[in-house]
Amino acid sequence: MMSRLRSAVVKGKKGPMETLGTTISTRKRSKTSVKAEPTTALLPSSSYHTFSDPADVVRLRSQLLRWYDKDQRELPWRTLAVTESDINIKTYAVWVSEIMLQQTQVATVKDYYNRWMKRWPTVQDLAAATIEEVNQMWAGLGYYSRGRRLHEGAQKVVSELKGQMPRTVDDLLKQLPGVGRYTAAAIGSIALGQVTGAVDGNVIRVLCRLRAIGADSTSPGVTEALWGLANLLVEPERPGDFNQAMMELGARVCTPKGPLCSQCPVQSHCRSYHKVHVKQEQNAKKLLGELNMPDIEDCVNGGACSLCPSEPWDDRLGVQNFPRKPAKKAPRAERTLTCVVTRPGGEGAEEYLLVQRPHKGLLAGLWEFPSLLLQEDQTEAKQKSALCEQVSRILRSTLTGHLLQYVGEVVHIFSHIHQTYVVYSLCLKERDVTTAEPGKERWVTRSGLQEAAVSTGLKKIVKLFDAVNSLKEKTSKDGKRRKPEGLKINKRSTKKGRMTGADGGGGGRQLSLSSFFKTVKEESS
Ligand code: ADE
Repeated sequence: MMSRLRSAVVKGKKGPMETLGTTISTRKRSKTSVKAEPTTALLPSSSYHTFSDPADVVRLRSQLLRWYDKDQRELPWRTLAVTESDINIKTYAVWVSEIMLQQTQVATVKDYYNRWMKRWPTVQDLAAATIEEVNQMWAGLGYYSRGRRLHEGAQKVVSELKGQMPRTVDDLLKQLPGVGRYTAAAIGSIALGQVTGAVDGNVIRVLCRLRAIGADSTSPGVTEALWGLANLLVEPERPGDFNQAMMELGARVCTPKGPLCSQCPVQSHCRSYHKVHVKQEQNAKKLLGELNMPDIEDCVNGGACSLCPSEPWDDRLGVQNFPRKPAKKAPRAERTLTCVVTRPGGEGAEEYLLVQRPHKGLLAGLWEFPSLLLQEDQTEAKQKSALCEQVSRILRSTLTGHLLQYVGEVVHIFSHIHQTYVVYSLCLKERDVTTAEPGKERWVTRSGLQEAAVSTGLKKIVKLFDAVNSLKEKTSKDGKRRKPEGLKINKRSTKKGRMTGADGGGGGRQLSLSSFFKTVKEESS
């Protein structure tokens, strides 16, 4: 029986990589989706960019799934999706994995996922957690609003949906915060067996290469064409496996750089691969002066096609001619002054002062050292005074600027901000200090600092702080300064005057470890 895929444009929220609208059918309703009917107005303009022969679709599905069955990675969420019989738990488990996998690598997610599912194995367990616990669990994973939305969603499921996870792609999209078109389709197909394609970044690449789609892959026309293709190709009997196989192929074979075409199970369907080889043959023949060139099967619409590249083919890129994206906007540069304030702890070891960030915006609700974004029109020296005033306010005392010791600089790249933290330290000798708003400020021990809901940027600041301290200890033991391996010792002066040095000597040499702590990881709000 031929299926009739329901084409529904659903207004919903946009998540990362997600656009509005979805085309689905349920497994019960369809046996095969070869004759799927995605919105025709949005179909690729030439058969070159789609699969017009149903037999090709059937072959591609079976080649891809055979490869996936043999070669797939064992991943905890896949195991859960197969072994869990409770549909609520299964849907929740896949939801958590898909949210974690947005913008984060599989290798990083695995450990976080296992810890999360151990602590909150059901949606009810997550709903009962505090946002502080969720932030703490999410710390280091980046894009912190994802954890908050999972928590919000779990509370909604428990309080408004009688503890029942949504059962369809449309309901997932409508009812869960942070779930957009892709995520709803992924959860729907993997956990609920809904027959829908799922187009994430990996799948975009695979499809663009398979069908030589070279127009801007973020444009609405290309997006709709890709969803149309994904819905056409998805195997109706195993939609979740098919979608994960496409993602797996993109992650491990059809990679952004250095794709492994010789290992590709669907190479015979790949227009880009074919094009590379015909071009190579043509070039070889040209060199030999032969006139009889092989034809390149190409899009008949040529220059008028909305899916063809606007830029000419580049032989050096091979299949990497596809996909094409507009150049990324450069992240904006920011400098933030931050101060590591320590006091003697109860049992001798130091304690650190943390303040909570606002509940909205970048790194919402996370804990950080007292910080101040450097205003463009202000010198660092002035801003240092402002930081000092801020710390004074928190500690309800009057501090003078020279007490803040310059430590160094740390660079951290968010998706849209190139952040430089200019780090100072303030070492209090007294333990008996009260803070202005104890709900928003707290003292933590070293182990508390490791466990708190803090960002990766803060962890880098702590590393720098430790490195400078151990350097200071070393130099004071030696009685003279030494340049340690891997640490750059710079003279640091600004136009407006020299900063106080990490060793406390107002006019001495300054330590800058910025080159030591280079950018590692991206994260965002
Ligand atoms: N990326 C997004 N979803 C995934 C999944 N289920 N398996 C592997 N990578 C993914």
